[in-house]
Amino acid sequence: MPDLTEAVVNLAKRRGFVFPSSEIYGGFRSTWDYGPLGVLLKRNVMEAWWRAMVQERDDIVGLDAAILMAPKVWEASGHLATFSDPLVDCRKCKERWRADQIGDTCPNCGSKDLTEARPFHLMFKTHVGPVEDEGATAYLRPETAQGIFVNFANVLQTSRKKPPFGIAQQGKSFRNEITPGNFIFRTREFEQMEMEFFVPPADGQKWFEYWCEERLRWYVDLGIPADKLRLRHHDPEELSHYSTGTADVEFAYPWGWGELEGVANRTDYDLTQHSKFSGERLEYYDQAANERYVPHVIEPAAGVGRSMMAFLLAAYDEDEVGGEKRVVLRLHKKLAPYKVAVLPLSKKDTLTPTAREVLGLVQKHFMADYDETQSIGRRYRRQDEAGTPFCVTVDFESIDDRAVTIRDRDTLAQERVPIDGLVEELRARLA
Ligand code: GAP
Repeated sequence: MPDLTEAVVNLAKRRGFVFPSSEIYGGFRSTWDYGPLGVLLKRNVMEAWWRAMVQERDDIVGLDAAILMAPKVWEASGHLATFSDPLVDCRKCKERWRADQIGDTCPNCGSKDLTEARPFHLMFKTHVGPVEDEGATAYLRPETAQGIFVNFANVLQTSRKKPPFGIAQQGKSFRNEITPGNFIFRTREFEQMEMEFFVPPADGQKWFEYWCEERLRWYVDLGIPADKLRLRHHDPEELSHYSTGTADVEFAYPWGWGELEGVANRTDYDLTQHSKFSGERLEYYDQAANERYVPHVIEPAAGVGRSMMAFLLAAYDEDEVGGEKRVVLRLHKKLAPYKVAVLPLSKKDTLTPTAREVLGLVQKHFMADYDETQSIGRRYRRQDEAGTPFCVTVDFESIDDRAVTIRDRDTLAQERVPIDGLVEELRARLA
């Protein structure tokens, strides 16, 4: 598909997945709001991650730390000193760019008259309290990870976990990106899903390899074709200030391979730094071996917007049904915003009580939509575009035979099932 990005962006806006933020004021600098379908997709992505990383394991626990943290955290973590991108200005057209992304030519006007690159700090600065002096400075976190490191001792003590174990967190992060873009791929406010896995130092490499494979598999299990995913190991000069090894899980976006998630070996860097700056001991005492050590950390760090973008791009499809073009989002059932749509065949009042009864039944178990406007064909198309795996049609016979028709988004097969067994049938199909 030549303009897949455009098709997906249009669909996302048209169907209420994503709206430009503050749109009635002309939008605001690459920030986006998630609409009724988008918020469901987003929650499903985050829920699938939480399930895989926390619920279905006994070696990872969750955390929800504050966005605002003591400024010392960012001194200790190295972000205050090093978290910047190289900024260049084009002297001809005045556009600003990240030097590492453009080489020696302005992508806007082709001029080679660029300023020297200078570091541009990516953390958003604000003030806490009524006085805007230096002592009141605070930063919006640029990664959720530090909230985990500063709570390492709290979690160790209260959860009674021991290495190898992990702490997982989802939440907003902020970076004053020089060039946000590609829709929700790179934004200044974004949501992360990060997990810090604490291991005995000698086991770092083994766990790094384990998490690379696990995280790659997560995307495949949720429907992204394996040939659209790859692991790319960073060259030494690409590594972040804290890392001895990083691999990106990359997706084949229409504009080229791009990072979906980073898996990094952060060694004992963060715990050691926070120990130095806070004066607290951040280590593990292994009673059996009678030894203390600072665990090494393996970190899979994913982005919610980036994965949503990848899931949408991978799911977008066009085919032909009854001689007409159909747009269909073949989203994995776990990710689909609505699992079921209840559609009375006609808007006639006689159908409403049965249709509403069916909605009431399924709504208790699955996110369901109800639609009675326009022709049934148009309504199927609308649900296909939203990625709804199953439509349940209530017709005039339903009133007497207490049965409804289930239509499958992908096979288009229709099957009549009793209302009494509908929830069980849907549960089996959605499993
Ligand atoms: N704690 C490690 C860390 O933050 P990162 O590679 O800078 O590592 C992890 O970020 C993930 O967060 C990225 O792979 C991406 O999915 C997401 N992410 C980072 N910056 C982003 C941005 N400006 N917009 C959207 N997502 C972003």
